[in-house]
Amino acid sequence: MAEVVKVEEHPQYKGVYIVELEDGSTRLATKNLAPGHRVYGEWLFRVGGVEYREWNAYRSKLAAALLKGIKELVIKEGCKVLYLGAGSGTTPSHVSDLVGEKGMVYAVEFAPRVMRELINVAETRKNLIPILADARFPNRYAHIVDLVDTIYADVAQPEQASLVNMNAKYFLKDGGYLYLAIKARSIDVTKEPDEVYRKEINTLNEGGFEIIDVVHLDPFDRDHAMVLAKYHRRG
Ligand SMILES: C[S@@+](CC[C@H](N)C(=O)[O-])C[C@H]1O[C@@H](n2cnc3c(N)ncnc32)[C@H](O)[C@@H]1O
Repeated sequence: MAEVVKVEEHPQYKGVYIVELEDGSTRLATKNLAPGHRVYGEWLFRVGGVEYREWNAYRSKLAAALLKGIKELVIKEGCKVLYLGAGSGTTPSHVSDLVGEKGMVYAVEFAPRVMRELINVAETRKNLIPILADARFPNRYAHIVDLVDTIYADVAQPEQASLVNMNAKYFLKDGGYLYLAIKARSIDVTKEPDEVYRKEINTLNEGGFEIIDVVHLDPFDRDHAMVLAKYHRRG
């Protein structure tokens, strides 16, 4: 493993660290809530008695969004997050690091095979609650999930926006936030958005979301953009 030269907290994103290595390269990292444990083969860096976990932007769309300069990291210490499409836990593990012991990550995933890996991740992380369920039916996990500060959605399905709206109605507090990984070509967010992309954004607006920022994740992920939106609860 390469020697660490310096670790600094990110000037804009609290809880995110910039690790400088002796070869001059830098890595994003979070403080490891489960020291000694890796989730997806990422590097662990121990500096001054603290363990940091490399946050690989080619594997995690949220890390890519930070490197692409998204306006805010709204996931902070103590936050409750509803995570839709948790997969095997790559990004959810970093969200778990960010919210810390006082926070909570409700991780919804419907594929049993990846759920098994997610359960392994949750074993060393008390703030990560794996939920085997289809995110199109929030009523089925309403008895487990509290009101949350943020929804993070990455279910890789068409009509994601309406699925998000349904979940927001059940679980997202007024003034809460959404990160949505949306399928988009690089030009969609800068020039003329295609029909599908525009429809998804309109659906979010109809559901009470105000778009705060959109960044394309190119070159870390060539097929997606990250949307940051704020929720205005009606009625
Ligand atoms: C792109 S992967 C998620 C990767 C993960 N967000 C990360 O960054 O580490 C999308 C996941 O969403 C899950 N998924 C798709 N549709 C779903 C649904 N309706 N309900 C729950 N999970 C769903 C898939 O099984 C898959 O594991």
